[in-house]
Amino acid sequence: MEQPEVSRVRRLSRVRNHAIRGPLAMVALALVTVGCQSNPQSTPPERAAVSLPASVPLVTTPHNWPDTKSYADPLSFVTRSFDLDLDVDFKNSQLRGSATLELDRVDPSARELVLDTRDLQIDSVKTAPAGGDKFRPTRFALDSRDDELGSALRIAMPRDAARVRIVYATSPQASGLQWLQPSQTAGKQSPFLFSQAQALHARSMAPLQDTPTIRATYTATLRVPDGLVAVMAAEGDAANRRGQAAFHFRMPQPIPSYLLALAVGDLEFRAIGPRTGVWAEPSKVEAAAKEFEDAEAMLTKTEALYGPYRWGRYDVLVLPPSFPFGGMENPRLTFMTPTVIAGDKSLVSVLAHELAHSWSGNLVTNATWRDGWLNEGFTTYFERRIMEAVYGEERARLEWGVGQQDLRMALAELKPEEAWQGALAPDLSLHKGEDGSAVAYEKGALFLYQLERRFGRPQLDAFLQGWFDRHAFTSVTTPQFVAELQDGLMKQYPGKIDATFLANWIDGTGLPPDAELVQSDTLARVDAQRMRWEQGSLATDALQTSGWTVQEWLHFLNRATRPQPVARLQELDRHYQLTASRNAEIAHAWFRLALASGYPGLEPALESYLMSIGRLKLIVPLYDDLLNTPQGAVFARRVYAQARPGYHAIAQRRLDRLMQATP
Ligand code: BES
Ligand code: ZN
Repeated sequence: MEQPEVSRVRRLSRVRNHAIRGPLAMVALALVTVGCQSNPQSTPPERAAVSLPASVPLVTTPHNWPDTKSYADPLSFVTRSFDLDLDVDFKNSQLRGSATLELDRVDPSARELVLDTRDLQIDSVKTAPAGGDKFRPTRFALDSRDDELGSALRIAMPRDAARVRIVYATSPQASGLQWLQPSQTAGKQSPFLFSQAQALHARSMAPLQDTPTIRATYTATLRVPDGLVAVMAAEGDAANRRGQAAFHFRMPQPIPSYLLALAVGDLEFRAIGPRTGVWAEPSKVEAAAKEFEDAEAMLTKTEALYGPYRWGRYDVLVLPPSFPFGGMENPRLTFMTPTVIAGDKSLVSVLAHELAHSWSGNLVTNATWRDGWLNEGFTTYFERRIMEAVYGEERARLEWGVGQQDLRMALAELKPEEAWQGALAPDLSLHKGEDGSAVAYEKGALFLYQLERRFGRPQLDAFLQGWFDRHAFTSVTTPQFVAELQDGLMKQYPGKIDATFLANWIDGTGLPPDAELVQSDTLARVDAQRMRWEQGSLATDALQTSGWTVQEWLHFLNRATRPQPVARLQELDRHYQLTASRNAEIAHAWFRLALASGYPGLEPALESYLMSIGRLKLIVPLYDDLLNTPQGAVFARRVYAQARPGYHAIAQRRLDRLMQATP
């Protein structure tokens, strides 16, 4: 490959990137945005920026709110659609084939296209004019690898090029794919493959502009071994069925890259309602359909709240237990951990959550990961509204109670140097590789709840419907939301909230002191019993737990003072079989309380839990707790060495870091 032209375009693009992302841009940013990293106790002048709606551009562009987690430059080129044509090779754990991108040239003088990749093997790159099929080789260069961001793929774009075809293969270690042996599945007969693209992993599956600022439609063909079934978070061809060699898909609605998703395995479908159904391994499909039978009702109730469902079907794919999340809102096809299938619908708030993302996240998308709360906080608030609409107000209050306690615990666990993680939109260019805390979820949800209480529910609902209508199929930023709130509800109903309120909620790193929490009489009664039990005035066998829901148990366990006397926990365990609990959330909460109290004899149950579940939210805190004591650390390292090969690459990476950080 000749280098000179590429290095020239690279130099050009550096200059351009610098113009967008350099220090001057940051100063301008500080003047117009709300997400500054200020100390919540002091009020430096920039913080007043929150009260300057006129200076916040209504259409925020990558100029003043860049995605620092992607090499793509949306001011040069934007992908409009793409096609994937891939062989699924289980023998070598590789996807192999081509990606063809259709691009708009935003800047007519742009001559370099930068794509995100991670550990991809690039075999050839060709370009063609718009609508043309004559692909000609072009020069390209793969930059060195950044551990967090991967490698920029720089492609020289002739003046008339509008299409790019890249022939490539994924790495067997692709961060966004997990290739499972038959032994890691329920059926034990067939291998299984699934993807997880959020947040920065689509780039390990295909060379793309991997930023939620950009959305594209796509088509895809997956060629699979005989007898396996391929699904994607897209519309499947009517002819797709077991026994076929190739499965075809199309996604007619434009999506951000993190919603690209596929799975291949021994999969069966079972309908729930006219628009809803489940995919799972044959032995799991029945229980899954039962657990998620309210999906259709949830969909209908959410449409009444936030407008039409715009994705056609809503199906759920149940994955093997190594799936690293509770759920992932892949459009038309939520990916779900099997740990939610408790048999009693006690954990279906995860279903409500992923379904709600069809509006908050998939329809109106956080433009950058800094704006993550616009996805997760909105969705958590909507999740509770859906739970209320389908299961009643009391259930919703219980879910709020558990979430509020999660937030208290998450904020309390932040070390002083991690205080920035308590803000709703922390500047991620300053901090690496942190995700998944309760803050974006629960503080974000509580922020919307404050708006509900101050402006009134019908008023907030109308505003949110308008937000979805105005921004359907686009990406949005935090300053944009603040500006519309200021121009909308705050002008319509003056005096309900002010700039200080916004600054406290959005920039402040704790829970604002005047936060109004959701109250639950049921949970208050649980607290009252727990306090008497802790004081010794209520015996363990006198606890009135017979009608307790899973959420009441979680509240009891999470709020219990730590450490508890071992003898008291032993009584509790003897009465309620907590170590043996088959509810993944209850077991998790119990293990945390037990570990904090030096409870003996936990190891066998804890080991089998950690060996059989790969969901980060459930296992990371347990490893973290274990690492707090010398014997715990020995146990954690031994179990991790055994469990690691079965965990997803995302979980391996997170836990490797945790283990390394602990001496
Ligand atoms: N979109 C998230 C999962 C995610 C977040 C993946 C960040 C990668 C990076 C999903 O909607 C989610 O929030 N899942 C939760 C369940 C939810 C009920 C809180 C989870 O995985 O626990
Ligand atoms: Zn979510």
